[in-house]
Amino acid sequence: MYVKVAVIGIGRMGKIHARNLRTNRIPNARLVAVCDIDKHVLEGHKKKYKKIPTYISYKDMLEKEDIDAVIIATPHYEHGKITQYCIEKDKHVLVEKPMTVTAYEADFVIKKANEKPNLVTAVMWNQRTNPIHQKAKELVSSGAIGKIIRANYIITNWYRSQAYYNQGGWRASFSGEGGGALINQCVHQLDLLQWILGMPKAVESKLCTKGRDITTENDIACIFTYPDNVYLQLTANTHELRGTNRFEIAGEKGRIVISDTKMTVYTFKKSEPEVNEETKQGYGFVTRKTKRYNYMPRFILRLIWYFGEQACLIKNFINAIRGKEKLLSPLKDGLGAVQLVNAIYASSWKGEKVPVPVDPVKYDERLNAKIEEEKAILKKDTKKHDDKHANKEIESKIHEIADQILEK
Ligand SMILES: NC(=O)c1ccc[n+]([C@@H]2O[C@H](COP(=O)([O-])OP(=O)(O)OC[C@H]3O[C@@H](n4cnc5c(N)ncnc54)[C@H](O)[C@@H]3O)[C@@H](O)[C@H]2O)c1
Repeated sequence: MYVKVAVIGIGRMGKIHARNLRTNRIPNARLVAVCDIDKHVLEGHKKKYKKIPTYISYKDMLEKEDIDAVIIATPHYEHGKITQYCIEKDKHVLVEKPMTVTAYEADFVIKKANEKPNLVTAVMWNQRTNPIHQKAKELVSSGAIGKIIRANYIITNWYRSQAYYNQGGWRASFSGEGGGALINQCVHQLDLLQWILGMPKAVESKLCTKGRDITTENDIACIFTYPDNVYLQLTANTHELRGTNRFEIAGEKGRIVISDTKMTVYTFKKSEPEVNEETKQGYGFVTRKTKRYNYMPRFILRLIWYFGEQACLIKNFINAIRGKEKLLSPLKDGLGAVQLVNAIYASSWKGEKVPVPVDPVKYDERLNAKIEEEKAILKKDTKKHDDKHANKEIESKIHEIADQILEK
């Protein structure tokens, strides 16, 4: 038996999910309906997939169609509300990242999911399908590199130009998506950080906007504090050409270096405290008892690139519904990254280090205030734009009159 799936929101990402289901890239699953509030988007879909029923309202769709599971790919603020409704209607749910904009709302969604433990509920943390990330998690949790002493993540290869920001109404605004590069692109890395290393105790961050006309950040610098003065530094931006993707995790007994699609693992026979205890040499030596190997499962990585990480995560979701696989990205795992997003914004607004998680109620209030500030900025900009436009009109009138005089 196959799982009957509907996609809610068939913009850029939802279209890809629908296509993957429709072209049978996801075994044991069928696309049975799609929904989008935009009539033009639906029209485009109807032309391509004539037999798939389309709906403007997801409530109507759930009422009328025989659906086992839904994939939600709407803008961020819709995620929590639609997830809760679908769970109420006894549907398995895979929601796009982030599961919600605030931890305050995420708590409600998780409570709702806990009421129906028979349902499979998941978040689209597609980077978890990468075998390199899975191996890193395994090495850290098995203690293969010993106690963690530091970590650094540089992620600057999510380039977004002004043209990207100009295309979509909800993008890069607190009112539209609850933030900018942090909540949209960098949220994948925040999930990996907490998945592999666990949640930090506190964070201090600096966010700013560079070279783009947007009201949110596209440049992020954070220091996360873990117990025993262990720090993790995160550098992320979406404005750098030919950026970097590098994650280093150093432990007392080894080190993991992930650079783009390659992972190098170093393991030491003795831990650094043991070496330090025994050695009489003050500096300048390299422990010879080091094992080093590269982990680069080319074949699996090629398969993932071919199908796409998102399709691989949907396969896992479908197999979990069929009781064939363990779920890679359960809904409750969506909370960690949302708490980190909230704490990073709270720290940058306050200009100081904050605990993780921050108070969800206070964050919700602060975000609403931020949205009001943003509205005022955008209103001013609209006036600027209108003034510019009015000047242009006067200018062209003057040229028109000048042309008429010259013609005479
Ligand atoms: N996992 C990934 O790698 C990845 C990549 C890109 C985007 N995303 C996520 O996918 C989601 C959608 O992003 P996108 O780029 O496709 O945006 P988009 O704007 O292109 O598409 C969103 C669609 O949802 C529709 N919509 C809005 N409210 C709706 C509602 N209540 N019911 C039904 N449809 C509704 C809109 O009309 C639009 O067509 C976001 O959460 C985004 O963060 C994930």
